[in-house]
Amino acid sequence: MRIAVAGGTGVVGSHAVDSVQAAGHDPVVLARSVGVNLVSGAGLADALAGVDVVIDASNVETARRTKAEEFFTATTGNLLSYVELAVADPAGRVPDLAGPEVFDMADLVRQVPRKRGEKRAVLQVRLPGRVGHGLARGALTAATPGPRGARTFASWLAAQ
Ligand SMILES: NC(=O)c1ccc[n+]([C@@H]2O[C@H](COP(=O)([O-])OP(=O)(O)OC[C@H]3O[C@@H](n4cnc5c(N)ncnc54)[C@H](OP(=O)(O)O)[C@@H]3O)[C@@H](O)[C@H]2O)c1
Repeated sequence: MRIAVAGGTGVVGSHAVDSVQAAGHDPVVLARSVGVNLVSGAGLADALAGVDVVIDASNVETARRTKAEEFFTATTGNLLSYVELAVADPAGRVPDLAGPEVFDMADLVRQVPRKRGEKRAVLQVRLPGRVGHGLARGALTAATPGPRGARTFASWLAAQ
């Protein structure tokens, strides 16, 4: 199967590309660095030729709501214009995929110098504004039941 990964060069997308390859399928990366702009649509039609499925792991670096909304409205709109999924029956919201544990970011970061044998103080600073409020209320944790990974952060860190 030919599977396009929007944002396939990013932190999440590159793992998706690896998984697609490992499963014996043919990944197609959609990113500006390979000549595809998801906002303008440039290069998208050619890149999607023969593609059966699209995984969207694209992202924009911003804490501004309007900028994020503009980006995802444009990119998702462009992808859906082309993808067969757009004309299929709605699938509804798929369950959240998440890890097995919930941590404060500072507690995770503290484990890194500890593993390296370094003594460093890690101070927790709460982000101001809506983004900070959302993060403090667990916006990055799974909101719905769904598949949970088994690997803990400690076991991942031990393998680095
Ligand atoms: N990273 C995490 O820890 C994490 C955790 C939870 C959820 N997520 C979610 O996962 C998604 C991906 O996040 P990420 O951290 O992997 O993002 P990322 O590393 O910043 O990667 C963003 C990807 O989007 C591509 N991209 C950006 N603008 C583009 C454009 N105009 N046209 C085409 N491609 C474009 C980038 O490639 P080019 O620069 O080459 O265009 C890159 O491949 C986001 O929805 C994020 O909220 C991430």
